[in-house]
Amino acid sequence: MVNSESNNQHSKLYYQQNLPNQMVTAVIVLNKELRIQYVNPAAEALLIKSFNKLADQQLKSIFFNNPINDNRLNQLLTSGQEFSDSDVILEFFDRRKITVEITASSVDFDKSPHILLEFKQIDQQKQISVEAFQQLQWESARDLIRGLAHEIKNPLGGLRGAAQLLNKELATEQQEYTQMIIEQADRLTNLVDRLLGPNQLPNVSDQNIHVVLEKVAQLTSFNKPENVTIIKDYDPSIPDITFDPDKLQQAILNIVNNALQVLGPDGKITLKTRATSNKTINGKRIKLAMQLSIIDNGPGIPEKIQNTLFYPMVSGRANGTGLGLSISQTLINQHRGKLSCISQPGHTEFIIILPITEATKS
Ligand SMILES: Nc1ncnc2c1ncn2[C@@H]1O[C@H](COP(=O)(O)OP(=O)(O)OP(=O)(O)O)[C@@H](O)[C@H]1O
Ligand SMILES: [Mg+2]
Repeated sequence: MVNSESNNQHSKLYYQQNLPNQMVTAVIVLNKELRIQYVNPAAEALLIKSFNKLADQQLKSIFFNNPINDNRLNQLLTSGQEFSDSDVILEFFDRRKITVEITASSVDFDKSPHILLEFKQIDQQKQISVEAFQQLQWESARDLIRGLAHEIKNPLGGLRGAAQLLNKELATEQQEYTQMIIEQADRLTNLVDRLLGPNQLPNVSDQNIHVVLEKVAQLTSFNKPENVTIIKDYDPSIPDITFDPDKLQQAILNIVNNALQVLGPDGKITLKTRATSNKTINGKRIKLAMQLSIIDNGPGIPEKIQNTLFYPMVSGRANGTGLGLSISQTLINQHRGKLSCISQPGHTEFIIILPITEATKS
């Protein structure tokens, strides 16, 4: 049992030093009727409601699901049995869902026993580990295919060379067969080179991203179908960033070309740039970054390939090789950036994030 002196210290800590107001953990205090008596600013942010709206509300009335069992809370009040649950999903009435870790303990508040709930949001940490896992899987798929492509490339060169020599020995009317071998070998070499992916390191310099986007828009306008409009939504204040313009252009064109292949009447492709802060790339927090979104209003990425979209040889098209996005991913990784995608029918958005470094900021 907590004595009254330490009670005093406790309240001092909470109310005079205003500790909960500075915490990143969301804190909610409930009375014995399980009604809200206090929330700190982190809890207001988590629940997207001010204390005025939350005061005296039943805890269960603010969630669509009932994430914490009332019996356990009552038991905590009567027997002091504290508990902690991880991976609890809080679902709100607007269908927003977040995953949290909840700790429930007893606390003296207003001179009587209350329940102290602490919510630690773990979605962000989870997202980072999912990303790290996907990156590892993508790298191993890429390495496997590269190894295979490498093994095919050497004998293919020999095969083509031999067919060429044979071609010279044959009379013109017999060259049809050797020509076919050479043609098919060239086709395969082309494919194998794409499977091997970009093999040179980027040749970087400080540049304005919009110069590349203008080039992409221009190239696209030459071979785009009539039904497609390109919309530019640039943030002109973005400082120069460090990149290889040819490689970045290729990465963006692969994405734009995919959109062109799926867009129907009234197709739109938007090239949108923004400066953004506090992004994570490969688990590292980046203070300032450039975010380029390539958005189309097409049918969306087929559900069955959404999780493996960036893997080599994953395609949703009958005649696709499934290499475009894998190559874009390699190119963006070479720039220490991040390529991701969100997609639903009518809105597919590929997001490229490239860090803005101190050196290029001025
Ligand atoms: N904007 C988009 N809208 C709908 N589906 C898309 C979009 N972008 C990509 N996809 C799907 O993702 C698949 C993989 O794309 P990716 O560019 O890697 O390969 P591909 O286009 O099939 O072949 P390649 O680019 O090698 O010719 C596509 O086949 C398509 O099904
Ligand atoms: Mg493609």
